[in-house]
Amino acid sequence: MVGVAILGTGAIARIHADGYKAFDQRCEIRALCDVYPEKAEALAKEKALSKVSCFEDYKSAVSQSDIDLVSICLPPSAHAETAVYALQAGKHVLLEKPMARSLEECDRILEAAAISGKNVSVVSQNRFQTPMMRLKQVIDSHEAGKILHAAANSYWWRGQNYYDLWWRGTWEKESGGCTINHAVHHADLLLWLLGMPESVSAFFTNLNHHNSETEDFSTSILRYADGSVAQLTASLVHHGEDQELIFQGEKARISFPWRVAASVALENGFPERDENTEARIDAVYQSMNPLQYEGHAAQIENLLSAVETGEELLVDGNAGRRTLELIFGIYKSAQSGDRVQFPIASDDPFYKAETMLTLLPRFHEKTMSKDNFSTTSISLGRKG
Ligand SMILES: NC(=O)c1ccc[n+]([C@@H]2O[C@H](COP(=O)([O-])OP(=O)(O)OC[C@H]3O[C@@H](n4cnc5c(N)ncnc54)[C@H](O)[C@@H]3O)[C@@H](O)[C@H]2O)c1
Repeated sequence: MVGVAILGTGAIARIHADGYKAFDQRCEIRALCDVYPEKAEALAKEKALSKVSCFEDYKSAVSQSDIDLVSICLPPSAHAETAVYALQAGKHVLLEKPMARSLEECDRILEAAAISGKNVSVVSQNRFQTPMMRLKQVIDSHEAGKILHAAANSYWWRGQNYYDLWWRGTWEKESGGCTINHAVHHADLLLWLLGMPESVSAFFTNLNHHNSETEDFSTSILRYADGSVAQLTASLVHHGEDQELIFQGEKARISFPWRVAASVALENGFPERDENTEARIDAVYQSMNPLQYEGHAAQIENLLSAVETGEELLVDGNAGRRTLELIFGIYKSAQSGDRVQFPIASDDPFYKAETMLTLLPRFHEKTMSKDNFSTTSISLGRKG
């Protein structure tokens, strides 16, 4: 039985608690920690966690001898310190996105994991959705031909008051705006499906969130070694949150949410629908059985299997770091106006949080700060 501690008992901790509870023959939540102890106690009550102890100090929660695995559901500025502490204490770690505030912090986490030999998995629950796994199967089958262009539209909508929470809307604590905290999901998916680009050119701004230093809109062009191009747009001003990933292959267009369209050229070059190719690709998509578990629960199952049997993690610390390398490349390009080549070197100002902080623009001054919201209800984005 894997003993679990959850650090931070705000909004996302509830999804983690449900995930572990789905595997109650294999793991048990034994510790909850929050600087507001009443929040930890409320979560224990809400999820009927009868065997938990509640802590205010994360070190006490992590150090309990019956804890094997630590779920980190804290603001981004606390991720590196707590992950390194847990790994050094010999515990496995499930770390909420974004992995950390900088590549330097990611490298500290990866080093601690390598020394301890424990697993670190960075949350990217959207990989663990049936439509996304099926889309990957189609891309890997090459039935759509070489991918020429991809568009990842990370469209979300948040009210002005979203940024009133104390840690949000600051480069220092949240480490960025919608690019690092919302499009992190779509950036991870893009890199999982297509790999890392050679370079990125980006633009960012704040269109309509006046209590935030950080961006609420960015758009980026990613260039790949084989000449193909991807676009990633991150937004918090898109009503309807129509998130999508669209791939234009030589032979067909495929996407999340699922749609396939294929064209062949008429004698004059104009398109004619290619229903045979569409049917062949759709058959590849439909051939994969639906996943038994999806989202956080499925990622937790993957981590439990890694702990129990050494099964490979679908989203490890290197994947979490790679996504942030793209995102810090976006921030560097948007700040400098230059095209940024990968990798980002360790002497680059965009490798460390401290140096990034001196360069990044403050779009607005954060003037309103609340300790807590009264509701813990959140939405996690489009599922298919
Ligand atoms: N995977 C997803 O789709 C998803 C969705 C929402 C949030 N998140 C991520 O989860 C993390 C937490 O987000 P949230 O929305 O749950 O935030 P939240 O503010 O609702 O919860 C964070 C909790 O941590 C507590 N806390 C802060 N510092 C602490 C410390 N040093 N020690 C102990 N407790 C401390 C706070 O009191 C709060 O209760 C963030 O990294 C966020 O990006 C991920």
